[in-house]
Amino acid sequence: GSIAVIMPAAGSGQRFGSQRNKLFATLAGKPLWFRSAERLAESPLVGRIVMPVSESDQPAFENEFSDLVARLRIEVVRGGAERYDSVRAGLAAIGDDSEVRWIAVHDAARPLVSAGDLAAVFAMASQTDAAILGAPVPGTIRREIRLSDGILRTETVDRRDLYVALTPQVFSAGLLQRAYQKHNGRPATDDAELVERIGHPVSIVRGSADNLKITYPEDLAVAEAIYARSTKNNDA
Ligand code: CTP
Ligand code: MG
Repeated sequence: GSIAVIMPAAGSGQRFGSQRNKLFATLAGKPLWFRSAERLAESPLVGRIVMPVSESDQPAFENEFSDLVARLRIEVVRGGAERYDSVRAGLAAIGDDSEVRWIAVHDAARPLVSAGDLAAVFAMASQTDAAILGAPVPGTIRREIRLSDGILRTETVDRRDLYVALTPQVFSAGLLQRAYQKHNGRPATDDAELVERIGHPVSIVRGSADNLKITYPEDLAVAEAIYARSTKNNDA
């Protein structure tokens, strides 16, 4: 496979509120990070999976999870304080591997990406060098307008051209490496923004909103339901 995946897993899961990293919570009996990696490993295009983890979680990945790590041939590396520090550590681990033509960044906290959406965003990236999954914004969005009388008013935003950014975000390897070399530390919401800053447009592929990020404990029940449905569909 000519795609290397960086799967940042080095957060602490503050908003999830459990004692250990939220990524150790289970989905259908396996840890969330494993479910996320499994989806990626199933693609024949994926050749490497690099997973940045925090210093405090490293012993868990080397001991209790070592079999699961080995099963998917995951390369565990040390992440950093911010998500982009973790991605940068993943880039360093990939180095200038000549087999790697594209790099996909995928949150370890998104275990529900479908095989179809993965294939679609990989195909778009091979065409445009920069492609991400996005889901249409579900609700009505209103934007604040400030007049001098201090009363808060809003106007409708046309949501037909708005998307919620998801992962994977997939780039040609050289483009992502350059975007990170140029990054001056100014916070960015995602990898696509860093690529945009060096002047390269990012294409979007409409993906399923089922590809949610596990953020709060209540997200797990929803994820279990989506996961059960997706495995049932595969059996049928
Ligand atoms: N992540 C990372 N390195 C960091 C911060 C986050 O690799 N320094 C990873 C997380 O492990 C997660 C993904 O980036 O897989 C998306 O981040 P998020 O959902 O915000 O996870 P956490 O930062 O762990 O959660 P919280 O913000 O609630 O603390
Ligand atoms: Mg976070």
